[in-house]
Amino acid sequence: MAVQMLNIPRQHAALATALEDELLAVFRSGMYIGGDKIAAFERNVAAYCGCRFAVGVSSGTDALLAALMALDIGAGDEVITTVYSFFATAGVIARLGATPVFCDIDADTFNINPAEIAAKITPKTRAILPVHLYGQCAAMTEIMRVAGAIPVVEDCAQAIGAEVAGKRAGSFGVAGCFSFFPSKNLGGIGDGGMLTTNDEALAHRLRLLRNHGMEPKYHHHFVGGNFRLDAVQAAVLNIKLTALDQWTAARQSNAAWYRAEFARRGLDKFVKLPVAKAGRHIYNQFTLRCERRDELVQFLQGRGIGCDMYYPVPFSRQECFRYLNCRAEDYPVAEAVSRECVSIPIYDQLTAAERGEVVAAFAEFYSN
Ligand SMILES: Cc1ncc(COP(=O)(O)O)c(C=O)c1O
Repeated sequence: MAVQMLNIPRQHAALATALEDELLAVFRSGMYIGGDKIAAFERNVAAYCGCRFAVGVSSGTDALLAALMALDIGAGDEVITTVYSFFATAGVIARLGATPVFCDIDADTFNINPAEIAAKITPKTRAILPVHLYGQCAAMTEIMRVAGAIPVVEDCAQAIGAEVAGKRAGSFGVAGCFSFFPSKNLGGIGDGGMLTTNDEALAHRLRLLRNHGMEPKYHHHFVGGNFRLDAVQAAVLNIKLTALDQWTAARQSNAAWYRAEFARRGLDKFVKLPVAKAGRHIYNQFTLRCERRDELVQFLQGRGIGCDMYYPVPFSRQECFRYLNCRAEDYPVAEAVSRECVSIPIYDQLTAAERGEVVAAFAEFYSN
């Protein structure tokens, strides 16, 4: 039996009537940019994340870009971030002409190592950009302590609803940046994103930035962009948000089952299971470190088992960052993880039979 990495239509099936009614209502309203749907979704996300304000934007990438623009980050500035994430995290820093300064990761959580941050702060450091990778919060208590007065922008693209130290992702730093790319735990039917903040002045600046720095119409305080969220996305996401806790519980239950089953079959000799630290892990991904990874991935794909490598190349080895002259030996953990990582299906609608099929394929591979 083939097992897909993700099956979004299956997730939508249970909400189909509500989603389709809402889509039709937006279509008939003629209100596609701005309006009540967006304001309602912003209020709901702010409440869900334990923040005072939320500002809807066009993607997770644009959320990160707008946050750094709002902090006036540009040429001559340094932004400290992880060496191991989706490209957007580092890409936005470089797009503004600032220099990304990469830190190695923690071997258990794959998140930025706070001790490395401390060592890389210089007088040019203008922001710190941790990522809550795979749905588990970075070590925010330590990061906030190390950052002191330096603004922290959280990349929460994979972590809506994740918690550490009793607080939700997006509520620690000056801003949290969320993605609603369709494959995320809370995914739209196209691109979408959100910024969260507790700072009213920053929220206002972000609202202007997403609309060319304009207020009132045709008067531009600064150069922004078109980073607006569509009403269609807000309407769909508002409905999906009501199911998010239930979906998160299903992901957590899949993760618990995988842990027990990999151990029961003795497969934990060959694969290192993801380490969940204290807090709420929302399992955007379930990522293992595996022996003979490339062979394993080929084998799984041959069996029709969905899997992916998030991420096979750390930023330190990306062609576009060659000018930074990073040395692989400065990022030993990310180097090892990028050679060993495999993410397997964890989504909320995965059936017990499908989970079983995934582990059975691992067992067959490691029996040879
Ligand atoms: C960690 C991380 N940061 C940023 C992004 C960018 O989000 P988007 O694809 O919505 O632009 C993503 C998702 O794709 C991501 O996983």
